[in-house]
Amino acid sequence: MSVRLDCVVGARPNFMKMAAVFKEIRRRPHFRARLIHTGQHYSPEMSEAFFRELELPAPDCNLEIGQGTPTVQTAGILQRLEPLFLQDRPDAVIVVGDVNSTVAAALVAVRLGIPIAHVEAGLRSFDRGMPEEINRLVADVISDFLFVTEPSGVKNLLAEGMSSDKIFLVGNVMIDTLLSSLSQAEHSDVLERFGLDPRGYAVVTLHRPSNVDDPERFRGLLSALSELARSLPVVFPIHPRTRQHLERGGWDTTGLQLLPPLGYLDFLRLMSQARLMLTDSGGIQEETTILNVPCLTLRENTERPITVEQGTNQLVGIDPDTILAAARRSLAAPSPAPRAPDLWDGQAAHRILDILENALIHKTAVR
Ligand code: UD1
Repeated sequence: MSVRLDCVVGARPNFMKMAAVFKEIRRRPHFRARLIHTGQHYSPEMSEAFFRELELPAPDCNLEIGQGTPTVQTAGILQRLEPLFLQDRPDAVIVVGDVNSTVAAALVAVRLGIPIAHVEAGLRSFDRGMPEEINRLVADVISDFLFVTEPSGVKNLLAEGMSSDKIFLVGNVMIDTLLSSLSQAEHSDVLERFGLDPRGYAVVTLHRPSNVDDPERFRGLLSALSELARSLPVVFPIHPRTRQHLERGGWDTTGLQLLPPLGYLDFLRLMSQARLMLTDSGGIQEETTILNVPCLTLRENTERPITVEQGTNQLVGIDPDTILAAARRSLAAPSPAPRAPDLWDGQAAHRILDILENALIHKTAVR
């Protein structure tokens, strides 16, 4: 008997998570998998490059939804995914993370009564102004398997009334991919290309609508970063959303080394050798925790509290003076002691597939 899984991805942070899951599925003879790309991220630098580097096969289907408001993108996914599921009905659908594609694919599956596995369930920032928070809440409430990365996720899901039978603390598939890619990333020449010394520079990423869409806030963040660049090189790979704002002009980016979005291995190398990371990304808070690189998160909240409790992450908010003071303190401090949250050990996908195999193939109680 073979069980068919449809794995849906859409945006950059999905690819490294699904890569670990997809590889594990292919190792198991009972499963057949289809990889479906919604096309939410469509530029070669945001999508194709990642498939190559992560050794993901070309998607079996690409819904090519492309540019549009979140509502238009969601509507496109609903319309184009339903016929695929109807034509060749999978036994379960796997979605990862918290992007618009995650929730849209889950909505199509739930309508058709197809079991949903949500990988990276339960994370909560408790900030409903973030599109990702709504995506997380909706995806979780309609999923059948909730695969969780950290204990806070279990607590959140139970507090929302989710049945404990559905909740599985399995670790972090993004860290599976990071650990298995580190040796390859060492061959990247990204430091040489941009003239950087190991441990001698800071890396910045910014793309949250709350930080880059508001001109006053964005200006304040850029001013703190420019000031920091007087102390050490500051490299800033620019996300397309952020680039669109920068291209409108009128910004002061003095001293910042602005780069295009980088591929996975280049970025992993760049992060792993950084003296300091400043970011509003969710995933980077986790990656720097494992890489033991101090991370300042330019947000008021995090849905990944374990990175603050056990990792290298500090929430510093968006006030320019506070950011600068935290950066200076971090630069003056010795390197943090290495720590890794429980189960962030490279085996999360293995645990997930064991659970799915028991439930979908052996039909045994999963607990
Ligand atoms: C999305 C995710 C966010 C994730 C981020 C990582 C949601 C709600 N947000 O945000 O959680 O952290 O991806 O990158 O799903 N664009 C391009 N090329 C592309 C993709 C996008 O130029 O390949 C442009 C779009 O046209 C749009 C802007 O970038 O104008 C933003 O893209 P969008 O997919 O709406 O959200 P992100 O900000 O990338």
